[in-house]
Amino acid sequence: MNQRTYRILSVVGARPNLMKIAPLITEMRRFDDLCPMLVHTGQHYDYAMSGVFFDQLRLPEPDYTLGIGSGTHHYQTAEVLRRLGELVPQVEPDLMLVVGDVNSTMGAALVAAKERIPLAHVEAGLRSSDRTMPEEINRVVTDAVSDLLFTTEEAASANLLREGVAAEKISFVGNVMIDSLVEALRVVRSSDAVTQTGPPPGGYVVLTLHRPSNVDSPERLRATLDAIAEIARDVPVIFPVHPRTEAKIAEVGSIPLKAWDGCSAISQSGIWKLPPASYLDFVSWMDRAALVITDSGGIQEETTYLGVPCLTFRDSTERPVTVTHGTNRVVGTDPVRLIQEAKAVLRRGTDLSRRVREHQPPPLWDGHASRRIVDILRSFLNERGSARPT
Ligand code: UD1
Repeated sequence: MNQRTYRILSVVGARPNLMKIAPLITEMRRFDDLCPMLVHTGQHYDYAMSGVFFDQLRLPEPDYTLGIGSGTHHYQTAEVLRRLGELVPQVEPDLMLVVGDVNSTMGAALVAAKERIPLAHVEAGLRSSDRTMPEEINRVVTDAVSDLLFTTEEAASANLLREGVAAEKISFVGNVMIDSLVEALRVVRSSDAVTQTGPPPGGYVVLTLHRPSNVDSPERLRATLDAIAEIARDVPVIFPVHPRTEAKIAEVGSIPLKAWDGCSAISQSGIWKLPPASYLDFVSWMDRAALVITDSGGIQEETTYLGVPCLTFRDSTERPVTVTHGTNRVVGTDPVRLIQEAKAVLRRGTDLSRRVREHQPPPLWDGHASRRIVDILRSFLNERGSARPT
């Protein structure tokens, strides 16, 4: 049999890449004609920000690690270019695959373009139209040099068409992050024992904050956490703290945060500060939350799938289907408005909480996006016919 093996080099770097790449690697491994290989740039490197996700998502150890670590955007991007730029000619992949919008995504995309390796971008076309967001630059650049652009929602495909991307390069396939979520829900809904903390018994709020525009200024962070403290007068707020935010909290001075002791149940009102959460813990908390407050991108999508009300503490979203779907509201960054909106959701007194009860997931958010993507990748590679015989 003339078996042919296509080398597909996937590149990840930061926490939100990991739940997106996991279902794609699992799917690629089903096919004898594909040889998936994984590079971890090391943009995120702590066990809590990376290793635990490899364990819980059953990701294979990376074939290559670049160890770039923390630094400025310029440093991170430049080091991905330099180190991956040395690796790629040795590996000679038939295709490179990147997910999301972090600095490692854009760095890897530029390496693929310079090395003239076909590039697939999963989660293409999302646009906040806010070029002050570092991720927006990463999205625009990555999409500009991609050969296959896989979108999660129809608005993303429309953005790409408007920017002049040829229609045949764009495939609306659904959301690989939801593929991982569907799997995780099977686990967390069958037993709380797999999670370290288990969700609190009554109503509670989950909070995440890490965007530089929200956490880097001590005054802004202080005002936001004071607003959250007001919301937390009646309910527990679970706040797993990103390392970037942790460093800034230390600069702000005394803030009304309760330190979780690592084992007891969170049942009292107040803001409970926790270390960064594992994937399964976080999914289990979101799944039963009365409300999620976040400045993340992916969490807007996960709450949409779960039908959990989400208030996005930002001025814009690149994921409009989460808003039109009725689960997410972009509330800006005024702490007073945040308090009003959160209290309304908790009283079940807004459109947001009413619509959420009737929710269906957005089109193609069905747990099978990675299957659609890998089908298209195989067709693309077979048409090019560049595989090496094994
Ligand atoms: C990055 C992504 C952002 C994504 C976020 C998810 C870019 C431009 N930003 O932001 O889109 O939403 O990841 O977390 O790529 N740190 C640790 N341990 C780690 C990693 C980071 O302590 O394992 C600390 C370092 O002090 C570092 C800071 O966190 O300086 C921020 O990390 P960085 O990778 O620069 O950006 P994020 O804010 O995590």
